[in-house]
Amino acid sequence: MKVIVTERIADSGLEYLKEYVDVDFRLDIPREELLDIIKDYDAIIVRSVTKVDKELITRGKNLKVIGRAGNGVDNIDLDVATERGIIVVNTPEGNIISAAEHTIGLMLSIARNIPQAYNGTINGDFRRNKFKGVELSGKTVGIIGLGRIGSLVATRLAAFNMKVIAYDPYIRDSRFEKYGATKVTFDELLKESDFITIHTPKTEETIDIIDEEEFKKVKRGVRIVNCARGGLINEDALYNALKEGIVAAAALDVFKVEPSYDREKQDFNNKLLELPNVVVTPHLGASTVEAQNNVGISVAKEVVTALNGKLYGNIVNLPDIKADEFGELKPYMKLCEAMGALYYQINDIPISSVEIIYRGHISQHNTDVVTLHALKGLLKPALKEGVSVVNARLRAKEMGVEVIEGKIDEINHYSSLVILKITDTKGGISQFAGTTYGDEIRIVEYLGHKVNFEPTEYMLFVRNKDIPGVIGHIGNVLGDFGINISSMHVSPNKSDGTALMIVNTDREIPHEAVESLNNLNSILRAKAVKGLI
Ligand code: NAD
Ligand code: MLT
Repeated sequence: MKVIVTERIADSGLEYLKEYVDVDFRLDIPREELLDIIKDYDAIIVRSVTKVDKELITRGKNLKVIGRAGNGVDNIDLDVATERGIIVVNTPEGNIISAAEHTIGLMLSIARNIPQAYNGTINGDFRRNKFKGVELSGKTVGIIGLGRIGSLVATRLAAFNMKVIAYDPYIRDSRFEKYGATKVTFDELLKESDFITIHTPKTEETIDIIDEEEFKKVKRGVRIVNCARGGLINEDALYNALKEGIVAAAALDVFKVEPSYDREKQDFNNKLLELPNVVVTPHLGASTVEAQNNVGISVAKEVVTALNGKLYGNIVNLPDIKADEFGELKPYMKLCEAMGALYYQINDIPISSVEIIYRGHISQHNTDVVTLHALKGLLKPALKEGVSVVNARLRAKEMGVEVIEGKIDEINHYSSLVILKITDTKGGISQFAGTTYGDEIRIVEYLGHKVNFEPTEYMLFVRNKDIPGVIGHIGNVLGDFGINISSMHVSPNKSDGTALMIVNTDREIPHEAVESLNNLNSILRAKAVKGLI
């Protein structure tokens, strides 16, 4: 497996990667070159500067995982990654303390003009009156977005004796109480704050969340910090508000268009940098020894885990699942993928809907990811490599397949049972059900037959006349082709005098062997099935 890392991550992360995969560390690689070589990689690891957009993802024919060393994934086209079945992982927790502390540092900087005073002092200007600031104590700080970082900022600023108010429409009231913040509307926050700090992700809704209109509502002389994402505060509107004295000072760690953070000198045209009351840092929020170690090692582990097909951790575009729950659900994922994969091998009518019913103990779990495996198995014969667990639901929708999930607590014979009921476009129903014994998987219902077999790589499904000698006929034909039978299961149907025979073999059954079987009088239909697991 090959992984390209395009931005600086901690050495500990690179060392970890090198133990498991081939790593190319290509700091500041030109975009054109990256576009050319991305097809050679199974994974890419980035921070906030590399644009993992549609063009790059589409050219990454072998990409399986995109790793974001950090939190915000606004530089990654999640929709395209998901559509192409690529797992996106990030490290949301590793740098939040650093980002919160940097926010406080920036706020103090613009309250007390520390960077300007430093600059003045080392250039021989010691006029302290020029750098007179304001206290945080007794002031109102408005926090937009009371998530991981916003809440850390809230508790730290309360220690400065600030009145903390916050606007976040997506969290429960108890979260405001927990972090000592008074819940306010957006307009109230703009009107009442002496300091505003923003901690939302960059989304369609939050881009330009503070723009010209909002600057008309703020308290004159407000000080603003953005240590989240460039573009949340409209840069033109901020420039004008600073020029007009509506905003007394701004501290920015991020810009709408980000420069490279690895060149010693570069031209960076942003008029905000010309203003004396603007303090800037080069996206330093996460740049501490501690955060970079956390993030570097976490992203390396997340990427290796995902490349190994383990679907837990900080996967942005899959349902949340913990490692221990993954362990419990893994056999069900295998089972459901196998049951799904059966359908198109024994039937050729397109599917209109699939119902997945979880019965017994399994129903207590978050089974979303198990459903995705069932869909992947079901669609794989049609879409081949075009389907993965990441895009299986999307693909099903595109193909017009309705997905219905049901849960029944009650136990009926098996402590856990998963039923897959597939309805085809002609109204026919194919139903399979299965269970697990530890790591072993068993299909216990096959098209109305009570059975008990283990799906394996090579199998034969035979519908035959329920007469003596058929087992021998099948054994002879397979023997002639040098194929060993590893197990066989027979399920007679008393009402119509037929039987179902399910055979596991040690190798692929060639087309000619199936043809010979279908030519036998005792056999109604023989079908070779492969790749169920
Ligand atoms: P988070 O997901 O934990 O919290 C974000 C909060 O914003 C959530 O509570 C959410 O409900 C709220 N929110 C979403 N839309 C909103 C809206 N329209 N109005 C108000 N609130 C809204 O994220 P986090 O880990 O706290 O990160 C916050 C920001 O900081 C992100 O943009 C992240 O990328 C950025 N970040 C920057 C640095 C840095 O180096 N400067 C480091 C880490 C994170
Ligand atoms: C993040 O989202 O984690 C930060 O912006 C930090 C970074 O990109 O390094």
